[in-house]
Amino acid sequence: MSSIKGFSKLSKEAKIEWIVSNYLNNDAEAIDFLKSYWHPDAATQKLHDEFIENTISNFYIPFGIAPNFLIDGKMYCVPMAIEESSVVAAASKSANFWLERGGFKTQIIDVQKIGHVHFIWEGQDAKDLHAFFEAIKPRFYAETEHITKNMQLRGGGILDIRLNDKTALEPGYYQIEATFDTCDSMGANFINSVLEELAKIFRAALADTTLIKDSEKSVQIVMCILSNYTPHCLVRAEVSAPIEALSEGNEMSGQEFADKFCRAVRIAEIEPYRATTHNKGIMNGVDSVVLATGNDFRAVEASAHTYASKSGQYRSLTHAEIKDGQLVFSIELPLALGTVGGLTALHPMVKFALKLLGNPNATELMKIAAVVGLAQNFSAIRSLVTSGIQKGHMKMHLLNILNQLEATEAEKQQIVEHFKDKVVSYSAAVNAFCQLRGIEVASVSGIK
Ligand code: MEV
Repeated sequence: MSSIKGFSKLSKEAKIEWIVSNYLNNDAEAIDFLKSYWHPDAATQKLHDEFIENTISNFYIPFGIAPNFLIDGKMYCVPMAIEESSVVAAASKSANFWLERGGFKTQIIDVQKIGHVHFIWEGQDAKDLHAFFEAIKPRFYAETEHITKNMQLRGGGILDIRLNDKTALEPGYYQIEATFDTCDSMGANFINSVLEELAKIFRAALADTTLIKDSEKSVQIVMCILSNYTPHCLVRAEVSAPIEALSEGNEMSGQEFADKFCRAVRIAEIEPYRATTHNKGIMNGVDSVVLATGNDFRAVEASAHTYASKSGQYRSLTHAEIKDGQLVFSIELPLALGTVGGLTALHPMVKFALKLLGNPNATELMKIAAVVGLAQNFSAIRSLVTSGIQKGHMKMHLLNILNQLEATEAEKQQIVEHFKDKVVSYSAAVNAFCQLRGIEVASVSGIK
């Protein structure tokens, strides 16, 4: 296999030609295939090309809608970008369930973001460094104004700057820790720019100060970077309903359901294996909203999982209790989201998604994403403690199986009808398909 220098400098066509001739045996169909995923409008495609380096095509994942979300008295049709077959169905089911029971209530707990200048100072007395830091603090605010002015006009900016002594963890390790309100932007670029400026101010002031001995003026700025852990950019969402309103038909009384439901959540609170899967299900909902609205789902994931470990053990992000005859089910999670900047004004589907949500500000989007996480978790646990997860999941996955088998539309319709009152499994779907076609199962058994 070949290597190449300057790949990024090639035109898109030349990049495709290079990979096809060097890695794909000059397969001309591969070129057509990649081009078939280009947007027909050249300007729209160019926009996508320029989001990242070395774009050669687009990668589709479904953009679905979960209607009927009643959040703080307002109705939403929530856009979700996700490939997993049952996620949107589960969110919609939960939205409908809670629509009939008063909907979701939310609360923004705080909106602070955080970043650090990590540095090493090997002076003798930390008190000298603290005294110096306090003396130059006003300079940090004044000399970053060229970056923070606009954010201040929008009502945000730097909230606080402090010195953290981390020498108990690592000799000489300190941090300048700054907290920010970045209003409706996620704020990563803003925060990182301010932090790099703080480091410059710090270094220059250290060189000039008389508060630190000349022999102790050396500092190593290791790095300046925001933290994706945002425990103070926090949202809470909740649903509650009287226990009698939770009965699962003939299968379970409301009391039995609520008890089993709370027990399932409790297991996720105390047992990390279950907590991981439980939180994964929550993030199915959260991530799909985060992605559809052009936000950074890796940042959101990283923060959520650190938050889930804040007690020293990885635990559930949701909580459930029975209180005064009601099931109260809630989530609290950090969500650093933006509705301005980044992809929000660029990606056409993101613009559409935000419009569909009524162009929310960042805190409203935090509420929506948290609610979808809670809804997703409710659906998952509801299935787990009643029918089991596979019934609903495999029903949604049936079409994927039939598409793999290259079933026709008419065959798909008949087989979906056949499974209306049966549990779907991969082998049952293959059997039904083969029976309908009158072919041997062995003839398709290579398909996984
Ligand atoms: C599957 O993507 C997510 C679930 O496993 C979540 C859960 O078990 O709570 C269904």
